[in-house]
Amino acid sequence: MRSFSHRARTRQLGYLPEEHLGKPVIAVLNTWSDINPCHVHLRDRAQAVKRGVWQAGGFPLEFPVSTLSETFQKPTPMLYRNLLAMETEELLRSYPVDGAVLLGGCDKSTPALLMGAASVDLPAVFVPAGPMLPGHWRNEVLGSGTDMWKYWDDKRAGLIGDCEMAELESGLARSPGHCMTMGTASTLTAAAEALGVTMPGASSIPAVDSGHDRMAAAAGLRIVELVQQDLRLSRLLTREAYEDAVTTVLGLGGSTNAVIHLIAMAGRSGVRLTLDDFDRIARTVPVLANLRPGGQYLMEDFHFAGGLPGFLARITDLLHLDRPTVAHATLREQLAGAQVHNPEVIRPREKPLADEGGLAVLRGNLCPDGAVIKHIAAEQHLRRHTGPAVVFDDYRTMQRTINDPALGITADHVLVLRNAGPKGGPGMPEYGMLPIPDYLLKQGVRDMVRISDARMSGTSYGMCVLHVAPESYVGGPLALVRTGDLITLDVDARSLHLHVDDEELAERRAAWTAPVHPYERGYGALYQEQITQADTGCDFDFLARPGTVPEPYAG
Ligand code: FES
Ligand code: MG
Repeated sequence: MRSFSHRARTRQLGYLPEEHLGKPVIAVLNTWSDINPCHVHLRDRAQAVKRGVWQAGGFPLEFPVSTLSETFQKPTPMLYRNLLAMETEELLRSYPVDGAVLLGGCDKSTPALLMGAASVDLPAVFVPAGPMLPGHWRNEVLGSGTDMWKYWDDKRAGLIGDCEMAELESGLARSPGHCMTMGTASTLTAAAEALGVTMPGASSIPAVDSGHDRMAAAAGLRIVELVQQDLRLSRLLTREAYEDAVTTVLGLGGSTNAVIHLIAMAGRSGVRLTLDDFDRIARTVPVLANLRPGGQYLMEDFHFAGGLPGFLARITDLLHLDRPTVAHATLREQLAGAQVHNPEVIRPREKPLADEGGLAVLRGNLCPDGAVIKHIAAEQHLRRHTGPAVVFDDYRTMQRTINDPALGITADHVLVLRNAGPKGGPGMPEYGMLPIPDYLLKQGVRDMVRISDARMSGTSYGMCVLHVAPESYVGGPLALVRTGDLITLDVDARSLHLHVDDEELAERRAAWTAPVHPYERGYGALYQEQITQADTGCDFDFLARPGTVPEPYAG
């Protein structure tokens, strides 16, 4: 009776029996939306995926899923990463599908889709949205994000005016696609390619290049074979694969957000990835990709320089080459013949952008469970710095008061923002690049040591200590800092130290009261109950823990 009902309803969809009977059903999960400029081309791209699925003898069905637009969703799409992961997991489990193609790329959509699919553990291919075209303004090449911050600071410093800003508005983001710097989006899609869940070379193809259509069609062809071979994500997403993804992110000088996302993704694959893994691997990987914000070029340059295959070919000694990918029996086979065509964009090993990975994990009495810093995208004289703290209790207060000369902030001060973590933000908004006061910008100050439990946009730069754990909202030591306390950052020693003794800290802790959470109901309340700290990936406790889920049964 059930299968009769399914056939009847497939007739209702307009399909002949011979179009679908006996064929693998491929779900095409699409994060397209009118409000997401990074994914606005994905409606077309899904057609290319379906074309591939049909050709290979599969039956494609498109599922619209929620969109996470970094630009438009407030307070931050990070609040909703786990919601898309849940939606992905439950759709793939509750509908009768055999395999999935996942379309996304704007920051959190990549980890969200892969976390959900990994939890269901079916065959899946990820189709990265692809970077947008390089930005242009007058004679300058612009990076989305990175140059927005730069020119906004120039405007605040009085160097450019409204006319220039109006021109910049039209030049910063010139086409559909995700940010074309090595921001969070490019970092995570590169990580997906390194994990082996995309077609080879997929992650750098510009969104509007015809090659992007061809890659989508190839993913459609391939997923049908993966279903026939029963090659599930768990075969690909191993500890070795996650270590290679970490190596990749670090060698690309990628976004700090990748730390949180890869830990969460690995958790869904039953792999325990830690901050220490990042720090250990960072010491072995040189930064070879000369891409903004840490370097000079943009994703299109990277693509024509050889893309991720070219990059990975330069670090094969640091990778696990015998693991399978969606396209090849081994990564070794996948990388055979990969070349670099522009050694300025993808540097040779003898001429790296930095000798060590661009991220460091800090420890100390201010961050007992760790903190993260992207020290390559910062002014190097601040690598070791001691200064007095200026503390802001929340983002709004900071915005309101930061430019007040009465605070007497100098370039030597250490700006501290709290209550911007997973629970306190909520969702760890990208507040971590705290603004430098206007009057200091006018004096030419362009970087300062900044500390918070927030995240930072992958396109940002500056000596910003991020992801301080535990966060201040739950009573982490960040909650106890007072304006005037001395703080020492030492990147090379991997330490962050608050010069206040334990006794004094204990007294301050006794006087501390937890802030009241604003969500009395709804998703925000669930988030507050379930979210884990930054060092463990900010997944929901009930999603991250191991355990079985029964197959759906409808009688
Ligand atoms: Fe979507 Fe940057 S805004 S990737
Ligand atoms: Mg971003």
